[in-house]
Amino acid sequence: MSAQTSSLNMNLVREAFLYQNRFNGQTIVFKIEFPVTKDSGFPYLMKDIGLLAKSGIRVVIVPGAAEYIELVLKEHNKNSTFVRGERITTSDVIPYVEMAAFHAATRFITGLSANRVDAVIGNFVRSRGRGVVNGIDMESTGMVDKIFTSAITEILDFGMVPILPCIGWSPVGKPYNVSGNEIAVAVSAALKAVKLVIVTAGCQFYTGDFSVPLSVARTGDGRILRLSPQEADLVLTMNESPHEGAGEGVLPSGALTAVSPKEAMKARALEALRLAVEASKKGVERVHIVDGCQESVILRELFSNLGAGTMVYADEYEAIRPVRNSDIPDILRLMDPLMLKGILIRRSAEDIQKKKDDYVVFVIDGTIHGCAALHDWGEDQAEIAALVASPSASEMGIGRSLVRYLIDKARQLGMRRVFVLTISSQDWFETLGFTEVPIETLPRLKRDCYNYERKSKVFALAL
Ligand SMILES: CC(C)(COP(=O)(O)OP(=O)(O)OC[C@H]1O[C@@H](n2cnc3c(N)ncnc32)[C@H](O)[C@@H]1OP(=O)(O)O)[C@@H](O)C(=O)NCCC(=O)NCCS
Repeated sequence: MSAQTSSLNMNLVREAFLYQNRFNGQTIVFKIEFPVTKDSGFPYLMKDIGLLAKSGIRVVIVPGAAEYIELVLKEHNKNSTFVRGERITTSDVIPYVEMAAFHAATRFITGLSANRVDAVIGNFVRSRGRGVVNGIDMESTGMVDKIFTSAITEILDFGMVPILPCIGWSPVGKPYNVSGNEIAVAVSAALKAVKLVIVTAGCQFYTGDFSVPLSVARTGDGRILRLSPQEADLVLTMNESPHEGAGEGVLPSGALTAVSPKEAMKARALEALRLAVEASKKGVERVHIVDGCQESVILRELFSNLGAGTMVYADEYEAIRPVRNSDIPDILRLMDPLMLKGILIRRSAEDIQKKKDDYVVFVIDGTIHGCAALHDWGEDQAEIAALVASPSASEMGIGRSLVRYLIDKARQLGMRRVFVLTISSQDWFETLGFTEVPIETLPRLKRDCYNYERKSKVFALAL
C-alpha cells in the first residue's frame, strides 16, 4: 500500500471516529423499504445497523411494507383500491394488512437477532381514521395521531431497537393502516432524531438521470451529494410529471403509474426525496437517501464526508471560516504530504500560528478539508498561499471556493492585485483567470525573499 493510500485510509478512519463520537447517544431513524429485505445484502445491512446500535447510537426502525401488503392481498384474493396513491383499507382487508405489516417487521427482528441486538416490535403509534376524503370513505386507513415517545425512549434506554410497523391504533384499540413514511417522519420529529435514513431498494440520485440546478454539489461521477430543502423542492418541481406527488401514499404514487422499470425507479426516488423534504420541514436536520442494496452503504453514508447517497440538510453543512488554534494540527496534516513532495514550502505549527489571522479553512460537517492564506506584502498586493484541498474531497470545488473567498477578502482590503507562486498548479490558476507575470512585478518585500532555486512561477489576477 502506498503512503498516499494509507494516509487516505487513515483520513477515513479519522472521519469515522469523529462521526461516531458525534452520534453517540443520539437517535437515528431508519425507514427501510420492503424490497431491501429481499436483497442478498440484507443480512450485511442488518449487521451494520446492529453495529451502530451496539456502539451507542439509538437506532429506531420503521419497516416499509407496501409491496408485501400488496402480495399478501393478492395471495388471499383481496382487492384494494388507491386514491391519490393512498390505499383505501377496507374492513375486510385490514386483518391482512396487519399480518403483512407485522411479518415485514419480524424480518428486522430476525436480522438483528443474528447480530445479538435486542429489538421490540410495538404499538408505539396512536392513530385516527382518515375519515371521508373527497367523498370517499377511507375506512381503516389512518394517520398518526401521536407517537408514544416515552415507551420508545424506555426501550432505547435499555439498549434495544424499537420497530414500528405501519399500523397505528385508536384510543379504543381499533387498528389503522398508516403510511410507513408518515410514521418515519413523525417518529423522527418526536424523538428529535439527528437523522432519518431512507433506505431504498436501488434509488440513487445522479445528475445524468435527473434535472438539477447547476449549484447542486455533486461527485466527479455525478452523484448528488446534498441538497438544501429549497434545492430539493426545486429538483422535485423540475422532475415531476403532472400526475405525481399527489398523495402521501402507502405505495409510491408515481411508481404505481410508471411505465418502465427506470421510470418506476425514478418515481420511487422522487417519492423518497419528497419524504426527505417533508421531514426536514418538520425539523429533522439531516435526511439521507441511500440505496440499501449497495455494500456497506450505511457506514459509508454516515461515517464519511463524501457519503454514498444523497443528503437533504437543513443546518449549516459546509463553510469557510478563520483558523482557530485547535485547527493547526489538522492544517499541518493536510499540508504534510505536499510539503514532503516539495509542492508546498515547509511551514511549522509556529509559522502558521504567527500568521494565523491570514489563514482560513474549508470545513465540511465539522472536518477541515481545505486551507489557504492571504498574506499582505504591501504595495496593494496580496499573496494567496498555502492553498490545499483534501484529496479525499477533491474536485468538489473546495480549491476554487477558497480562492474566490480570498479574492473577495483582498478586494475588501483594498488590494489591487492578488498573486500566487506555484510549481504544479499553473493550469488550474489559469482556469480562475490568473495569468503568468514576471517576478519583477512582485512587491519588493516578496521579491527579496523569492527562492530562485525553487523556480516557482508567478501568476496574478488584477482586482
Ligand atoms: C490545486 C488544488 C487546490 C485544487 O483544489 P480542488 O478542490 O481539488 O479543485 P476544484 O474542485 O476547485 O477544481 C477541480 C478542477 O480543477 C482541476 N485540477 C485540480 N488540480 C489541478 C492542477 N494541479 N492542475 C490543473 N488542474 C487541476 C480538476 O481536474 C478539476 O477539473 P474539472 O472541474 O474540469 O473537473 C488542489 O489540487 C491542491 O491542493 N493541490 C496541491 C497544492 C497546490 O498546488 N496548491 C497551489 C499552490 S499554493
